[in-house]
Amino acid sequence: MKDENVEQLDQLRETLQKAKSVVALTGAGVSAESGVPTFREAQTGLWARYQPEKLATSDAFLEDPPLVWEWYAWRRELVSSAEPNPAHRALVALENYYPNFALITQNVDGLHAEAGSRNIIELHGNISRVKCFNAHHPVENWDALEGSPPHCPLCGSLLRPDVVWFGEMLPEQALISALGAMQDCEVYFSIGTSALVHPAAALTVEAIKDLDVTVVEINPAETPITPYVDFALNGSAGQILPELVDLLVL
Ligand code: OAD
Repeated sequence: MKDENVEQLDQLRETLQKAKSVVALTGAGVSAESGVPTFREAQTGLWARYQPEKLATSDAFLEDPPLVWEWYAWRRELVSSAEPNPAHRALVALENYYPNFALITQNVDGLHAEAGSRNIIELHGNISRVKCFNAHHPVENWDALEGSPPHCPLCGSLLRPDVVWFGEMLPEQALISALGAMQDCEVYFSIGTSALVHPAAALTVEAIKDLDVTVVEINPAETPITPYVDFALNGSAGQILPELVDLLVL
């Protein structure tokens, strides 16, 4: 463990041990060690290779539905062969340890659920689900349907992935649940996220500015929130989170 982290974890220990209510916001960095690419990292991020405005907006979908559908099919495939990593598993251990624990995630890969996390708030949807483009109602058993994309069996509109695209609102219930979980939490983690995408990043800003909560960031890189958090643990989530769990259970 890096010396700076040892010192910080030592200072954090008592707060972590005493807390009853904890919230963690996760981003793509948590799945990086499962082989799922992040978005904004210079060489490896998806947005270094693909243009979000051509793939992750409703205009892009309307302009070229097969292109967008196939891109998400490729990502769905990639995610389906990925396994949860030690970071996902450590978050399950934290949920088992704390009486109140909420996991707010921007990830659409479902790996938190696969690892065994239960109280998951998905802010950006889930890539394994699809919904109808016009009416937004969920559609089950769609993988046997013909077409790229297939048409909704109920209303005939095109099907699209059930993820949040740029310019779209977050699912209202998810946002309400996230804000609710944050209200009485004592420790708030921001893990593996560049903290650049709003409104998800605004949750962390609220935790820093408006709530009486200890804010801990886990990231190998600096982000816009790093100067303002109480503890900035520098390194990978797959390494630091298990160390943090050891602090609690050993
Ligand atoms: P980003 O790609 O913006 O940021 C990933 C962050 O993870 C960076 O800050 C990395 O330094 C960090 N990171 C990389 N490897 C890590 C590791 N092993 N452990 C911990 N951290 C690591 O991804 P997000 O912040 O999740 O939105 O992006 C937010 C949203 O932007 C995504 O949900 C997606 C994207 O456009 C939608 O698709 C709606």
